[in-house]
Amino acid sequence: MAQLHPRTELSQESIFARMSRLAAEHGAINLGQGFPSNPPPPFLLEAARRAIGTVDQYTPPAGLPRLREAVAEDLGVSPQEVIITAGGTEALHALAEALYGPGDEVVMLEPYFDVYIPQTRMAGATPVMVPMRLTDRWEVDFPALEGAITPRTKALLLTNPYNPTGSLLSKAEAEQIVALARQHDLWIVSDEVYDELYFNEPPIPLRRLAPERVFTVGSAGKRLEATGWRIGWIVTPPGLAPQVAGMRQWSSFCSAAPLQAAVAEALPIARKEGFYAQLRESYARRKDLLEQGLRALGLKTFSPAGTYFLTALLPGLEAEALVREAGVAAIPGSAFYTQHPAPKGLFRFAFCKTEAEIEEALRRLAGYLKVRT
Ligand SMILES: Cc1ncc(COP(=O)(O)O)c(C=O)c1O
Repeated sequence: MAQLHPRTELSQESIFARMSRLAAEHGAINLGQGFPSNPPPPFLLEAARRAIGTVDQYTPPAGLPRLREAVAEDLGVSPQEVIITAGGTEALHALAEALYGPGDEVVMLEPYFDVYIPQTRMAGATPVMVPMRLTDRWEVDFPALEGAITPRTKALLLTNPYNPTGSLLSKAEAEQIVALARQHDLWIVSDEVYDELYFNEPPIPLRRLAPERVFTVGSAGKRLEATGWRIGWIVTPPGLAPQVAGMRQWSSFCSAAPLQAAVAEALPIARKEGFYAQLRESYARRKDLLEQGLRALGLKTFSPAGTYFLTALLPGLEAEALVREAGVAAIPGSAFYTQHPAPKGLFRFAFCKTEAEIEEALRRLAGYLKVRT
């Protein structure tokens, strides 16, 4: 009997989908998967309603020209270097296909965002994981990072701001990474889908430090609270966009045309009307609510500098029991590690949920912890 290819071993249900399914089954508050509870802004929804029936056919694989221009204007790059994709996820996949293959190694940090490993392996390359140091904060372990680079290393794959740790690269760290990449002649894939979600200093776009070797990944879904729309982008080093877009034409060919048109209209409005600043304020309130609540329960938290994720230690607790018995879904730290052990008791909580949901989750956790002691 014919068999599916062995690479379908990569097809298991992701922990994010699993925790969302379990949360729905058990009526739990879902602080697991990172999708916002709030709807997208009205200016985006209105633009989409206007676009459907007007912009309905294929766009070029590199994207609707007016969206490439809007992204370029927003990021201060040339539209020739922008490719529109089906979310940050497809952007990362297109880059994996375009940049590495069998025999190549891709160095990334642990804990990591889940798609990095399967996408690297689907391209035939080998992921090499370097654990971050966890003291009172998450830090890049530079000696370990440098030690992981071999003659086979093709790229560094980094996230900034970082999911799941919520950490941001400092200027010195960003410069050190770029220096390493130059010394070993590596590409840098810089996943910056949370570029507008920071709480103090904004993140440093790595392409500004090394435009010749950095590919930036962005996401309208993350920026505009529309994760299901699947609109993202890549900014390539000068001259490389045609080949990357040419690779992506063999998968989805192009992203949903009317939604590209809507995002093109919304990006300048979001910038002009201070939408991102409002979003940051609203997320800062929810971060504080969750963090203070967890600390009040005696739990150790690692304050995020960006993203809508908070990591905390809940020693002795188990994620599935937490859903079933406490009615709260969170992602266990082990989901973000494959080559090294996760710190004991590590969990990631998403605070892109309503204040009411966060308060209820804290009440349930408090009750659960009280019963267990
Ligand atoms: C670090 C990181 N990169 C990429 C993505 C994927 O973004 P998108 O929803 O635009 O595909 C996510 C989504 O959670 C993420 O956390």
